[in-house]
Amino acid sequence: MEKRSLAGKQELGAIGLGAMGMSDLYGTADRAESIKTIHAALDAGINIIDTGDFYGSGANELLIGEAVRDRRDDAFIAVKFGALRSPDGGWVGIDTRPAALKNFLAMTLKRLGVDHIDLYQPARIDPNVPIEETVGAIQEMVQAGYVRHIGLSEAGSETIRRAHATAPISAVQTEYSLFSRTVEDDILPTLRELGISLSAYGVLSRGLLSGKWTAERTLAPGDFRGRAPRFTGDALQHNLKLVEGLKAFAGEKGVSVASLALKWVLAQGDDIFPLFGARRTDQLADAFASMTFDLTQDDLKKIEALIPRDAVSGTRYASYEMGMLDSERGR
Ligand SMILES: NC(=O)c1ccc[n+]([C@@H]2O[C@H](COP(=O)([O-])OP(=O)(O)OC[C@H]3O[C@@H](n4cnc5c(N)ncnc54)[C@H](OP(=O)(O)O)[C@@H]3O)[C@@H](O)[C@H]2O)c1
Repeated sequence: MEKRSLAGKQELGAIGLGAMGMSDLYGTADRAESIKTIHAALDAGINIIDTGDFYGSGANELLIGEAVRDRRDDAFIAVKFGALRSPDGGWVGIDTRPAALKNFLAMTLKRLGVDHIDLYQPARIDPNVPIEETVGAIQEMVQAGYVRHIGLSEAGSETIRRAHATAPISAVQTEYSLFSRTVEDDILPTLRELGISLSAYGVLSRGLLSGKWTAERTLAPGDFRGRAPRFTGDALQHNLKLVEGLKAFAGEKGVSVASLALKWVLAQGDDIFPLFGARRTDQLADAFASMTFDLTQDDLKKIEALIPRDAVSGTRYASYEMGMLDSERGR
C-alpha cells in the first residue's frame, strides 16, 4: 500500500476504509464478513478506518472495536460526531457544543474499547455553535490525550480557516469523485494553502461509479440510495449511461470500473486520502487493485472526456440535506 502523509504529521496507507455501510444506510450487511473486511484492509496496509458515532447509533463503533481489539496499533480510527439520531434511525439534528462532544467522545472511547481516537471530527458544521468553540473543545481533548488529530467534515473554506486559526486541523472530509467535483473550486485550494489533507468520501458515488450498479437493483427499506437524487428516475438512467463510457475505458485498461474511479481520486494529489466504502472482501479487492496500475496524463484526459466535470444528473443529497452542508453554501 502506498503511504501518504497526513498534513505532514503522520504516514498512513493512502486508501482508507469507510465502515458506514457495515452498520447503516445501505441495507443489511453481514457482521462476520464486515470484520473480515476490516482485517483484510489492515493486513494490506490500510490504516484509516472511518466511522461516525451515529452510524447504526453506536453499532458501527462496536463492530470496529471488536475488529481492532488485538491490533489497535495498525488502525487509525477516524470518528465523526454530532449527528443526532432517534431510536427509529431518523436524523433529528446536530449538536457540537463542547459539553455534548465531550460526552459523545466518552461513549465513543468505551464502545471502541480504546484510550484515544486518531481523528475526531464534527460530522456537520453546527449553525448554532461557533466553530471556534467546537474545535477549542476538541483541542482540550487532544491536550488530555483522548484525541490525536482534529478534523472537519463538509466544511466550507471560511469555516476551515476559522477552525485552523483556533487549533491545527489535520484533515477535512468531503465527497469527491468523478461525479462530485465542487471541492476543486475553493476548498481543495484552501486545504493546500493551509497544509491540511483531504479525506475524500463517496469515491464510488456510493456504488453508482462501480460499474456494477443497475437500474433494476431493489433497495432495502431505509437504504439512503432509495431517496438520493442521483439514484432515482431519469437521473439514474443518465448517470448509468455515463458509467457505461467509463466501463469501456476500464475494459481497455484491463481494470474494474471501481478500481478506476478510486484511482482517479488518488491521482488528484498525494494530499488526498480516498475512503473506500467496501463491506465485503471481494469489494475491497478493487481497492487493492488500484495500487497495481498508473493513470497517464492521457488516461486522465480520456476519463474526464467520458465523465465531464458537471455531467452528473442530480445533487449528491436531497435538498434538505444539501442545506446542511457548509461546504455547499453559496453555490
Ligand atoms: N462526511 C460525510 O458526510 C460522509 C458521508 C458518507 C460517507 N462518509 C464516509 O465515507 C465512507 C465511504 O463512503 P461511501 O460508502 O458512501 O462511499 P463509496 O465508496 O462511494 O460507496 C460504497 C458502496 O459502493 C459499493 N461498492 C463498494 N465497493 C465496490 C466494488 N468493489 N464493486 C462494486 N460496488 C462496490 C457498495 O455498495 P453495495 O455493497 O450496496 O453494493 C458500498 O456500500 C463511509 O463508509 C463513511 O465512513 C462520510
